[in-house]
Amino acid sequence: MAARLADKVTLITGAASGIGRETARLFAREGSTVFLGDIDRRRGEAAAAEIGASASYVELDVTKENSWSSAVDAVLERAGRLDVLVNSAGIWSDGDFISYSLAEWQRTMDINATGTFLGCRAAVAAMKEKSNSGSIVNIASIYGNIASDDAVAYAASKGAVRMLTKGVALYCAANSLAVRCNSVHPTYVDSEMLASFAHVVGGREAVVAGLSGVVPMRKLPVPLDIAEAVLFLASDAARLVTGAELPVDGGMLAGIFAPISAPPRQLGA
Ligand SMILES: NC(=O)c1ccc[n+]([C@@H]2O[C@H](COP(=O)([O-])OP(=O)(O)OC[C@H]3O[C@@H](n4cnc5c(N)ncnc54)[C@H](O)[C@@H]3O)[C@@H](O)[C@H]2O)c1
Repeated sequence: MAARLADKVTLITGAASGIGRETARLFAREGSTVFLGDIDRRRGEAAAAEIGASASYVELDVTKENSWSSAVDAVLERAGRLDVLVNSAGIWSDGDFISYSLAEWQRTMDINATGTFLGCRAAVAAMKEKSNSGSIVNIASIYGNIASDDAVAYAASKGAVRMLTKGVALYCAANSLAVRCNSVHPTYVDSEMLASFAHVVGGREAVVAGLSGVVPMRKLPVPLDIAEAVLFLASDAARLVTGAELPVDGGMLAGIFAPISAPPRQLGA
């Protein structure tokens, strides 16, 4: 099969770890030049080195407008254009809406929501200047669609990403820019982010077993499952897809099972 991102230039945020890093690996295999943006230089450089010559690290703090300018300038200088931006940088944050400190609320909104907003603006400007076309994929979450009592700031930030995505898509369409913008909505992913709170509930296996139980397909995605969805939206196969949201959630956003199940029906009955 032909490489699905042949000759494309991609910038991925949060690419030192988890979903962003796996997306960088997959995109490189699909022919893209990849720039791995992250605040974590050590892990970002290591991830780029592991991918090889088509990958390089760029320093990026998504919360800072001047950091976005420098990172996008570096991409344009080294590769001549920007075709795809994947906004994957993000933090998990739990707490109910009374116990949250204002500082923690702001930090969550700054990284997850404002970081994505600044990224979309920087990318659209660069894409407009160089080719008048491109694709932006924002990593939201099922929490962008359904709320939780114990992750209020996280859900608010991902709800913002969901609606920002649609606004960017419509802006570009209304202004004759062939830049598409879509969001991907994972359920709990078996990744570093999940491992970070595993110790609280008795280790990784216990978390995976517990969380799988609330997923209709009874299985958690791994980072590659999310990267494959991002690849579709980034590629020309999705040339008329914009403002859309793609859950990768084993059916969680589809609804709930019947609270009282009838015995399975016989085929043909
Ligand atoms: N892991 C999950 O269960 C899950 C589920 C749904 C959605 N998501 C979303 O997917 C995205 C990626 O999550 P992940 O599991 O790969 O997390 P991760 O913790 O493995 O990776 C996040 C990366 O973002 C980087 N980062 C943090 N703040 C930054 C900043 N200010 N500027 C630049 N980089 C910064 C970190 O250094 C890290 O490399 C996040 O937006 C997350 O909210 C994750």
